[in-house]
Amino acid sequence: MRRKLAAGNWKMNGERAALDEIGLLAALPAAAAVDVLVCPPATLLAAAAERAAGTALTIGAQDCHHAPSGAHTGDISAPMLADAGARAVILGHSERRADHGETSETVRRKAAAAHAAGLVAIICLGETETERDQGRALDVAADQLARSLPDSVDALNTVIAYEPVWAIGTGRLPSTAQIAEMHGHLRARLADRPGAGIAAGIRILYGGSVKPDNAAAIFATPDVDGALVGGASLKAADFAPIIEALAATG
Ligand code: PGA
Repeated sequence: MRRKLAAGNWKMNGERAALDEIGLLAALPAAAAVDVLVCPPATLLAAAAERAAGTALTIGAQDCHHAPSGAHTGDISAPMLADAGARAVILGHSERRADHGETSETVRRKAAAAHAAGLVAIICLGETETERDQGRALDVAADQLARSLPDSVDALNTVIAYEPVWAIGTGRLPSTAQIAEMHGHLRARLADRPGAGIAAGIRILYGGSVKPDNAAAIFATPDVDGALVGGASLKAADFAPIIEALAATG
């Protein structure tokens, strides 16, 4: 059985006052029924991990360098994230692919570094609107999946987040049929890889404009194991009903 996961991606938002949201989420009864992860900016990681200590809530990061240390000004390594209290790291988000030219090969190296540091790698992928219009969405996402996964992948150290680029921050969503088709396709491609239990065990999240009012329908979709939530994860008042909708799916 795959345990459901609600992951919040704060992106480049949040200063110390936002840490109160961590406390509110940690106190939520539903947060014990599913896995809940909050990924604040790196500046808040250690303080957020302290707030979440002793609760079921876990803290993650939004990126890492592929090297464990060295001359890379401004970068942060996976062991540093783990040392700050992170348990997971988002990798290959479409904003990093667009803003920083990250390729799936970059993501694969970072995921290997995350695994070596004991972090769960949340690998993001998804098609652009043009690629969907051209009927290439399934192929594009499967190609990103194949290129992004390192040999170190196993059922527990990796999570896939399907995030159509055109659905992120736009309020536009694929239909549940399109989400089911994509998630089923990705799981089938995972089954092509060697490694017992990977396809059955890896969680596949949906991300892109998940809100309290659409969460239940998304979570009722086959092969959806949770969500990666951006804007609606910034306030506990918005994220809580999403977590509760996930917990209600059993
Ligand atoms: P959104 O972002 O929920 O604000 O659309 C999702 C994401 O980018 O992970």
